[in-house]
Formats: sequence, C-alpha cells, structure tokens
Amino acid sequence: MDSIVVTGNGPLHGQIAIAGAKNACLTLMPATLLSEEPLTLTNAPRLSDIRTMSTLLESLGAEVAQMQGGQVLALASHAITNHRADYDIVRKMRASILVLGPMLAREGHAVVSLPGGCAIGARPVDLHLHALEAMGAELDLRDGYVHARAPGGLRGGRIAFPMVSVGATENALMAATLARGTTVIDNAAREPEIVDLAQCLRKMGAQIEGEGTHTITIEGVDRLGGATHAVVPDRIELGTYMLAPAICGGEVTCLGGRIDLLAAFCEKLDEAGIDVTETETGLTVARRNGRVRAVDVVTEPFPGFPTDLQAQMMALMCTAQGTSVLEERIFENRFMHAPELMRMGALIDVHGGTATVTGVETLKGAPVMATDLRASVSLILAGLAAEGETIVNRVYHLDRGYESVEEKLGGVGARIERITGQ
Ligand code: EPZ
Repeated sequence: MDSIVVTGNGPLHGQIAIAGAKNACLTLMPATLLSEEPLTLTNAPRLSDIRTMSTLLESLGAEVAQMQGGQVLALASHAITNHRADYDIVRKMRASILVLGPMLAREGHAVVSLPGGCAIGARPVDLHLHALEAMGAELDLRDGYVHARAPGGLRGGRIAFPMVSVGATENALMAATLARGTTVIDNAAREPEIVDLAQCLRKMGAQIEGEGTHTITIEGVDRLGGATHAVVPDRIELGTYMLAPAICGGEVTCLGGRIDLLAAFCEKLDEAGIDVTETETGLTVARRNGRVRAVDVVTEPFPGFPTDLQAQMMALMCTAQGTSVLEERIFENRFMHAPELMRMGALIDVHGGTATVTGVETLKGAPVMATDLRASVSLILAGLAAEGETIVNRVYHLDRGYESVEEKLGGVGARIERITGQ
C-alpha cells in the first residue's frame, strides 16, 4: 500500500487545475444504460472509482473506452447482456447502486447487490428502493441482492423523499426518463451533480424540469438517444485545494473553479478571514491577513455546507485562532480524521455528531492513517501546515477521489511525495 509523505514547507503559490466531478461522473456513466446510442463524457476525472464504474458497466455488457488519458469516456450499451451487478464489484463502491434505476427502466428487470455500509456510516439504500416502487417496480431483497422487476415497464409516480438523498434522487431521475407518464420527485437533492445529470439526460432526449430545486418533474419518453456532455467541475476537489493556501498561507488559483458550486463554503472562508476572488480562469484564494479565525460549521444538503468538505475544514480549524464547533448532520460516523489530527497535536473534542476544535499555533508532523476518502485528504492538508514530516498511510482511499494529488500540490510549492508500498 502506498503512503504519501508531506513536509511543511510554508506558503503556496501558483495554479491548480480542477478536474471533472467524481460524483457527477459516477451518475453520468450509468446513464449509458438508458440508451442504445453512444454517450461521450468529456472532462472526466482520472480516478480509481471511475475505473471501478467502468468495470461494472462492462460486466453488464456496456462498452467503455477511455481516451485522452481517461479525460474522455466513450460509453455505449447497444445491448445489456448481463442484468446482475455482482457483490464483488458493488462492495468496492457504493455508487454501483446507480445502475439499478437505469437498468430496470430500460430492461424491466435487474439484480443488483446491496452495497453494504462503509467507514462513514451504514448508508442504506431504502430511499432508492421506495422511489422505484413508487414507479411500479416489484422488489425482492434476498441473498444480499435487490431483485427488481417491472414487467410492463415503469410508470410515472409521485416520489416524496422523507430526507434528501443524492443517490436516490439520481436513481429515481434516471429511471423516470423512460417510465410511462409523469413522475414528480419531491424533496429532491439539489446538488450541482444532480443538475449536471439532468442536463445530460435532456441532451439524450429526456423531458425534465426543476432540477436544482426541491421538485423535479419528468415526462417519460419511449427511448433516449446519445449525447456528448462535459462533466461539471468537482466542487469537492475545488474546496479541498482552496483550503491549501488557507492553511499554509500564500495565494493559489484553482482553475475552473466557480463560486456558485460552493457558495456556503466560500461564505465560511470569508468569515474565517480567507479572501476568495472569482476571475475568468477560476477562484483565487489567499488569507486576508495573519491567522485564520475559528468559525462554526454545520453540514447540510446543497446549498448548505457540504459534508464532503467537513474533514478538510476541520484541518483548517485545527490551526485557527479560537474555538470552532463542527456539526456533522449527514453521516453518523464522519469524524475518523479527528484522532489522526490529534496525533499531530490538534485539540479536538468529539461528542456524537459534534466536534469542538480549539486552534493551536502549529501542528507537528506524524505518521497518520487514512480511513476514508475525505479524511485522508484532510490529513494531507494538515501535513502541509505542520512542522516536520507527516506520513499518510493507506492512500488508496485518496486515489478514489483525487487525481495526482502530489503533482497538483507539488506544483504550487508543497513538499509532497508518494512512497510506493509493497
Ligand atoms: C453522495 O452519496 C456522495 N457520493 C457522497 O460523497 C456525499 O457525501 C453524499 O452524496 C452527500 O452529499 C456520490 O455521489 C457517489 P445520500 P449518497 O444518499 O448518495 C442516508 C464522497 O466523499 N440515506 O445523499 O450515498 C445516508 O445514510 C462521497 O465523494 C438513507 O438513509 O448520499 C446519509 O446519512 C461520500 N437511505 C444521508 O441519507 C438511502 O436510501 C445522505 O445520503 C440513501 C441515503
């Protein structure tokens, strides 16, 4: 297993190119199952999760060609030759559940392994299943698989989500495009990745209104065509790299960044004394003056503060002036980075879903363990600002969501290198 070694090296200066959004690409790719025509995705990120989704789609009979080093994905599912998404692939990546809606909508049947939990929580899929049942699907859970059938095809229905779910909204949205009649999704997730999916589906011929609001209305059509679509920039990678100059000092421009993708996050940075300037090339970030101020954070569905940036923000708060209270409202176990940050000298008190951080002048480098994707990058950020050397182990977590992190941070002056493990 690889490790990444980071040595505090002072302020950062330069530019970081932001890639296409992992979490948009992971729902755009299964959309190929809705149509026999080719779907081409540009600005795709080069990540292990994308390769995992490619393997899953190919196991169902889709073709996935990676071009331009993986930045362009040419997908086609002329025929779905296997209707079973196996546990050995699904267990590696929860987003695999997103093949269920499209496959059921197009074929009238699908067998998909339940994803199981992960480090940050149980992460059930009950909302996905209720949404498909509201469109007439017959579901049978056995042997750890969802056996789904829609003999006469899916029909339009009303789906009222009791809580916001990004994945369930995506599954329902994709399935509804081929359902007979009208589907209304209430309490829909409003994330930019949902908007990106709807825009791509519309290019394929879907009839969708209201994406990005609480209510999405879909008129089913008989078939969908092909499309070419550019993946929206990754707002979580963007926010992560915006925190690098915030925690180290200096000035970094994140190319392709847009404030509308991260308004709540940018407001928090402003409150903490970080300047964010939108230019025609992206977002330029620098500390306003002196030490960063502690701010409180509550994670919420979009447009609130993203849960996927909570760990990274905690790293910044570890060196801020004052005390910060971070409340994690989306997942039940998303503070696993806290004990690792404490090994570096951070003062963090965790009670249930709330972490209280008392800022310290400097952190001290130490060997630490990555536990999940966003926790691992928060340890990298802390290492950038720490005195001495930080060794982050198990960085395979990191490679799921961040392409060439050492090149991107090294390019703005960080001392960071990957040690290839045995
Ligand atoms: C997506 O996960 C993202 N993943 C997550 O990013 C992100 O943290 C999350 O949305 C919230 O923004 C992808 O898009 C691939 P949810 P998803 O359904 O869809 C509960 C990352 O680091 N829930 O919005 O799984 C669930 O347990 C990852 O890139 C149910 O109870 O998230 C959670 O507490 C991590 N039943 C809450 O809802 C369900 O059927 C929000 O989950 C579905 C979800």
